[in-house]
Amino acid sequence: METAISCTQASPGAIAQERPPLEDFAWPEEGVTRVPFRVFSDPAIYALEQEKIFRGPVWHYLCLETEVAHKGDIRTTWLGETPIIVTRDDNGEIHAMINRCAHKGALVCLKDHDNQRSLTCVYHAWNYGLDGKLKGLAFRKGVHGKGGMPEDFDVQKHRLEPLRVEVFCGIVFGTYSPDTAPLQEFLGEPISRFIKRHMDQPLKILGVHSQTLHNNWKLYAENVRDSYHATLLHTFYTTFKVNRLDMDGGIVLSEKKWHHISYTKRATLQADQEYQKAGVHSAKYESNLEGPELLGAWDAFEDRITHSIQTIFPSLVIQLTLNSLAVRFFVPRGVDKTELFWVFLGYENDTPEQEKMRVMQSNLTGAAGLVALEDGCINSFVQRATASSPDRQAFIEMGGRQTESNESSRATEAAVRGFWHGYRQIMGFDK
Ligand code: FES
Ligand SMILES: [Fe+2]
Repeated sequence: METAISCTQASPGAIAQERPPLEDFAWPEEGVTRVPFRVFSDPAIYALEQEKIFRGPVWHYLCLETEVAHKGDIRTTWLGETPIIVTRDDNGEIHAMINRCAHKGALVCLKDHDNQRSLTCVYHAWNYGLDGKLKGLAFRKGVHGKGGMPEDFDVQKHRLEPLRVEVFCGIVFGTYSPDTAPLQEFLGEPISRFIKRHMDQPLKILGVHSQTLHNNWKLYAENVRDSYHATLLHTFYTTFKVNRLDMDGGIVLSEKKWHHISYTKRATLQADQEYQKAGVHSAKYESNLEGPELLGAWDAFEDRITHSIQTIFPSLVIQLTLNSLAVRFFVPRGVDKTELFWVFLGYENDTPEQEKMRVMQSNLTGAAGLVALEDGCINSFVQRATASSPDRQAFIEMGGRQTESNESSRATEAAVRGFWHGYRQIMGFDK
């Protein structure tokens, strides 16, 4: 089946590049079990994603509510390539807007975090309320009666471009599109329920860091949905029995298949010979930790789930590994570069011992931890090996060809297929 797509809007990074027209692009007939390598390296597809996904009818993670807890709090972030400001105004209401002055387009807020009564652009001092409405500007009436704005200049016609905002369980989401369904409808029932499991109490940020990934953003979106690589690639998980496929666990897909939950119950390990027989890299090591307390954990939930990765399309992840709770989100920084942010969390009512344990356990996963390094490498290996073969494709049939939940096994790529299902729909590649 042929899929013809026109792309008129180029991202800044794509303008100078010679590229073939997207009209010649067709997704393989096999559908979500194949992924053309071209989607990871084609600047025209990257530019179309900015329009269809990041400026399209999708809810995107902006920040945590606790980062704008007080009146006057300001948090800056990105939605795709667009810089964003999130504020809390004097009435306690949260707003989000593009961080781009209505005058000549300069960044208005320059810091990650701030607290101000209003927002003032440093270029010509246009001044905005925390809701993004223009309040005033320098030299509006000119100087000594000369110069200034025309008589009919109307402040109400110039403002920072607003986004729709919804908050769920302390997470602030935003979208440009008036057509995006209400947030909880977008998330669906099982996803909302599992977000509540982790996030529905006052949160405390324990630490934030970011890392640059040398790969297209979708390789990371795949990687976090790829439940079966985790116990093969990540030696630490297997050696120390944090997460293995021979523990009880499963995959739950959202109703529309765009989001997913992968979960594991550590206490149910029944060592499978398959790890030895297959000679997998991660099962070859016998090691002891000098600080075994890293793996000491308390049971925080009654369902016995000790490791979970939850994705929300396109670029949000909520994870719990033992007691390490984190939110990750990733921002495309070009067709072959991605910035990954980690926000490590605890709860306001944690004891000092619990907080200390969560901070220590952040070393299990984060940018300075034991897992992110391997994921960063492997994604760049895929980027490097696929970039020269845009006409070839990935083969994604582990666990079958269907895109369904599987609560008896994580030896499946069902959630990866779920991502591509959503991607193809929103990009118009499924026609
Ligand atoms: S660009 Fe912001 S005031 Fe001129
Ligand atoms: Fe991984």
